[in-house]
Amino acid sequence: MSKQIYITREIPEAGLKLLREKGIEFDMGTSDLPPTKKEIIKKLKKKPYDGVISFLTDPIDKDVFEACPTAKIFANFSVGFNNVDIEEAKKRGIEVSNTPGTSELAVAEHTIALMFALTTRIVEGDRYMRAGKYKGWNPSLLVGTDMKGKTIGLVGGGAIGSQVAKVLHNGFGANIIYSDVVENKKLEEETGAIKKEFNDLIKESDIISLHCPLLPSTTHLINKDVFEMMKPGSFLVNTARGPVVDEKALVEALKNKKIRGAAIDVYEFEPKIVKGLNKLDNVILTPHIASARESARNMMAEIAAKNIIGVLEEGKAFSSVIK
Ligand code: DGY
Repeated sequence: MSKQIYITREIPEAGLKLLREKGIEFDMGTSDLPPTKKEIIKKLKKKPYDGVISFLTDPIDKDVFEACPTAKIFANFSVGFNNVDIEEAKKRGIEVSNTPGTSELAVAEHTIALMFALTTRIVEGDRYMRAGKYKGWNPSLLVGTDMKGKTIGLVGGGAIGSQVAKVLHNGFGANIIYSDVVENKKLEEETGAIKKEFNDLIKESDIISLHCPLLPSTTHLINKDVFEMMKPGSFLVNTARGPVVDEKALVEALKNKKIRGAAIDVYEFEPKIVKGLNKLDNVILTPHIASARESARNMMAEIAAKNIIGVLEEGKAFSSVIK
């Protein structure tokens, strides 16, 4: 009997093609909106699925595993996998995988775009024009700040952080500092980056950019005390995970001009945002689209499919996150 999997939402054809080639059948959710846990469970109870492709918006926990005891793998269609209860999966011998190496470039580009949007005040300029406020050239209108010579503080010196560092250091003359649990010699050699203690990085950076995973130790890593420590006139960029930042404290820091501005792609209570954030002029908000590129999405679909095929056909995931 052919293998069957459930895909909680549509994925690009690039991944479906690989599944078809291996004769793996699939049912796929069609809603644009993330399914609730209840909806996922209902679907999974319909058939004895051998595996699941899940998304970062799907809460995959004990109840979901129980609803589909035949599933050998949950292949997450994202680099992050904080939506999956890994300990519970381990206990049950269920494989969990992610899609590494697929979206680092896209996320780095989006991060850099957000940084420049802040320093060059492009979004404010656009709003100004649309509001019909432009009455003539003014030397003091929407004056921004240079990237050259600025200190960029990367919280996380992994693949995305390194890519951001290379572009900003080699292309624009920014200085790079980073904090991480591990040393990244390559990053240091390629960009002259210096590893710092977290608090020193916070105090010294002109732009702080978050590139760490969401873990108990990184939840609310950026909080009221951290905003107090940040340099006056500095910026915060978050393309990592929402709960790394205490969003209420961010609103206060922006309101009180403790920091000059922020650009945010991910939210603490996604898709909701904390009251007041969208009323502020000194913040740029994008809807978790840092990795939203055709190339990245196709690669993510392929890697998710390869993980399914790996486990169902060869007994080994292509990119397991189970340690
Ligand atoms: C990821 O891959 O973890 C991104 O946040 C979503 O594409």
